[in-house]
Amino acid sequence: MRTVFLQECESTNRVALTLGQQGAVHGTAVVAGSQTAGRGRLGRVWQSPAGRGLYCSFIVRPRLGAEEYPRLTFAAGIAVATSVEHLFRTKPGLKWPNDVYFDHRKCGGILNEASGLGGKSEDRFAIIGIGINVNTAPGEFPPEIRENATSLYLETGKTVEILDLFAEVHERLLLEVCVLEEKGFAHVLSRWGQYDFLKGKRMTWVNIHGERVNGISLGPDNSGSLYVMDDMGDTHKILSGDIELWQGKKKSAAGP
Ligand code: BTN
Repeated sequence: MRTVFLQECESTNRVALTLGQQGAVHGTAVVAGSQTAGRGRLGRVWQSPAGRGLYCSFIVRPRLGAEEYPRLTFAAGIAVATSVEHLFRTKPGLKWPNDVYFDHRKCGGILNEASGLGGKSEDRFAIIGIGINVNTAPGEFPPEIRENATSLYLETGKTVEILDLFAEVHERLLLEVCVLEEKGFAHVLSRWGQYDFLKGKRMTWVNIHGERVNGISLGPDNSGSLYVMDDMGDTHKILSGDIELWQGKKKSAAGP
């Protein structure tokens, strides 16, 4: 297991994909000072200026079936939330499926990508990309996301070495992957639920066709899909798409 430190790269997920395809072992990490083409979910850009955030990716080769790989997002969410709690003494929320939030503002995100899912189990691996706004100061976010983005510094007034946060997340992520393998997804979900930011809140689900459903989040079910009760009392099982918040600020942001 090793860590590759880069001053700058296009995307740590991209570098990790290449390393994984070359056979990098479970737990290998890539961390970059900045990214020139950082990516978020749903094709969004993750802006990644130097000295302001943690940009890292982990290659994991879990003992899980291919269909279980999306569950790694929940394990990674717990790893990020508990790392932040440990280092900053403050509890973030996790917004289904992959965002880290403080009071309606996004502070971090997880990009879980898999390789070789259709092939032999030994060729299969996941890349867990994590971006966290760490030291961003007021006014440093671009205007289009300023209202919806925050950083650990803005939330807590504390600054930490970005690499200390990286080390904490690295250790906890590998631990949470073990927990998922050994104790199962129900156990992971119940821990994730302690950080569930959406549960009981009004929200809008925007599906891949752009259709919108307003309702209240009931939290994820035992498969990890989000359950939402709409205004007519009907429930919807959400597998993917975008979740917009109703209270406070409206929309999730991609990053700084
Ligand atoms: C999201 O919120 O949509 C996920 C954002 C993930 C960003 C991280 S930064 C490190 C890694 N490399 C990338 O290009 N993306 C992830």
